[in-house]
Amino acid sequence: MTKDFKQNVFQGRSVLAEKDFTAAELEYLIDFGLHLKALKKANVPHHYLEGKNIALLFEKSSTRTRSAFTTAAIDLGAHPEYLGSGDIQLGKKESTSDTAKVLGSMFDGIEFRGFKQSDAEILARDSGVPVWNGLTDEWHPTQMLADFMTVKENFGKLQGLTLTFMGDGRNNVANSLLVTGAILGVNIHIVSPKELFPTDEIQGIAKGFAEKSGAKLLITDDLDEGMKGSNIVYTDVWVSMGESNWEERVKLLTPYQVNMEALKKTGTPDDQLIFMHCLPAFHNTETEYGKDIEKKYGITEMEVTDEVFTSKYARQFEEAENRMHSIKAMMAATLGNLFIPRV
Ligand code: CP
Ligand code: NVA
Repeated sequence: MTKDFKQNVFQGRSVLAEKDFTAAELEYLIDFGLHLKALKKANVPHHYLEGKNIALLFEKSSTRTRSAFTTAAIDLGAHPEYLGSGDIQLGKKESTSDTAKVLGSMFDGIEFRGFKQSDAEILARDSGVPVWNGLTDEWHPTQMLADFMTVKENFGKLQGLTLTFMGDGRNNVANSLLVTGAILGVNIHIVSPKELFPTDEIQGIAKGFAEKSGAKLLITDDLDEGMKGSNIVYTDVWVSMGESNWEERVKLLTPYQVNMEALKKTGTPDDQLIFMHCLPAFHNTETEYGKDIEKKYGITEMEVTDEVFTSKYARQFEEAENRMHSIKAMMAATLGNLFIPRV
């Protein structure tokens, strides 16, 4: 490789938030994910990261993100190493900056799931290797790659579709959907009580992108207005990791549950409508939390009814699988020295 040869616009870059990427870049990663999914299904090896070491830092728990990064790294020929909150010092007895320097000297890439977005930024600044945000309180960018990959798989396109997120409109997933849709030209509706509308800052970022892409954004507490014309109805837990205000959220968000009545309000033909959820979901009482909520508040379902979750509209498990293919695309593009012209 000649010294000044730049293989692609991704090489060496961190993925901390969607706002740092153009529509063309995000679309490339989505399409590359679809391609890698096809390779995997056809048993075609794709060891783009042979010999690389990947650190997986998790301050918060995870099923999908951890599994996706682990299997994606192995499929790419890399070695993943899980470092949980109980395993390393991060922030407790060693600063994030010092941790970054140590990890960067041994690992070729770092995944970080935690609370503060600033920790992801410090890791990226001081490690010298790509850092991939596996969820912070503010953003969930790897979720977005899988989500819009799933949308493209189902509709064959992105631009002009309408995705409605109903629930806690100021959580990480809502923030990411609003901004990513705005970049990609997907109309985004956020339907939530006024108290949980996205912050002015997040709305401002999204509006800036929407002006360029033509995406129509709607933030409303009115279900009829918000649901109308939706192709994708999306929800997430009412209480995110790091929060514990169940009583307040159950009160505020019960009218914003995704149920069959809410889906009907879309007015969208059946073959043009899907339901998505990043998971985990509270759609029955088969969890400790679910049982506890039933005991305290007398409800057996929260953000989505079991009827919708098990309906013909539901795509949440395809979406979960796509976490792996899209994370693989992101890691290969940012670390694999691939030749990717014209993005
Ligand atoms: N959707 C998602 O991030 O799932 P996990 O919390 O299980 O990683
Ligand atoms: N908003 C949720 C997403 C989980 C994938 C949380 O942060 O807990």
